[in-house]
Amino acid sequence: MSVLPSEGHNRVTVPDILSRKKFHSGQPPVTERKITMLTAYDYPTARLVDQAGVDIVLVGDSLAMVVLGYESTLPVTLDEMLHHTRAVRRGVHRALLVADMPFGTFHNGADDAVRNATRFVKESGAAAVKIEGGERRMELVSRLVEAEIPVMGHIGLTPQSLNALGGFRVQGKTAETAEALVRDAQALAAAGAFSIVVEAVPREIAARITESVPVPTIGIGAGPECDGQVLVLSDLLGLTDGHTPKFARQYAHVGETIRAAAARYVDDVQKGSFPSDAESYHLPPAARDAVPAKKV
Ligand code: KIV
Repeated sequence: MSVLPSEGHNRVTVPDILSRKKFHSGQPPVTERKITMLTAYDYPTARLVDQAGVDIVLVGDSLAMVVLGYESTLPVTLDEMLHHTRAVRRGVHRALLVADMPFGTFHNGADDAVRNATRFVKESGAAAVKIEGGERRMELVSRLVEAEIPVMGHIGLTPQSLNALGGFRVQGKTAETAEALVRDAQALAAAGAFSIVVEAVPREIAARITESVPVPTIGIGAGPECDGQVLVLSDLLGLTDGHTPKFARQYAHVGETIRAAAARYVDDVQKGSFPSDAESYHLPPAARDAVPAKKV
């Protein structure tokens, strides 16, 4: 079997993301171009964000809350994540596709975690997985990397730790917790993670973490000094209900657009203006006399 060289392809790869590290320990910036990542959960939105030019599409376990209507990310299952990742795969042609390992799929030993992560690669076409947690995931990250499964880390506010943290709060606000976050990031990088999501951390601490690791940091609620940024697509589009955190800049009001469109449709049907004659099928002239039909 011969293998064609992959040069010239325009898919974003894990090495491409690694090469976008801004700076590390005083080294001059390799590139100034920040990494952009957005979540997607289905085929049409995946296609659109891919066409928009994001570097990474993440099938986040936020799927649980923003698409499936659960109250937290904890209930979403591996099968649900696989199902949505497959749909996203069909829409993504350029960006790197990363899938979130949901709660409970990497907590029962490394063998089980590798088996579950392998399903993301084999059955849904993900190029990498994301795992929440810092230093304590070191061994697991090394095992996955050894199994040729690239890993994105996730530290700071890790929504799967909801019960342990007692709520969604900004992390790393004391000297001790800030130091722990730097250690978490360094441990993940040492274990082989190719990038690290830093969520809800003071800007100053996220900047320190970014300087302290040789792999890109991707911030959400972590200020502009990270090597990249990520947002939940439903927040960006204005599709989420209720409270959104202050970092979740809304770029559109799609929720309002959908509600208004549906209300106009209901109104038009009741008024009899939908469907119009032009939006209706007609009998061909030759059949008009042969087929018993009502004159309209
Ligand atoms: O699940 C998710 O959407 C995430 C992002 C917030 C990074 O983990």
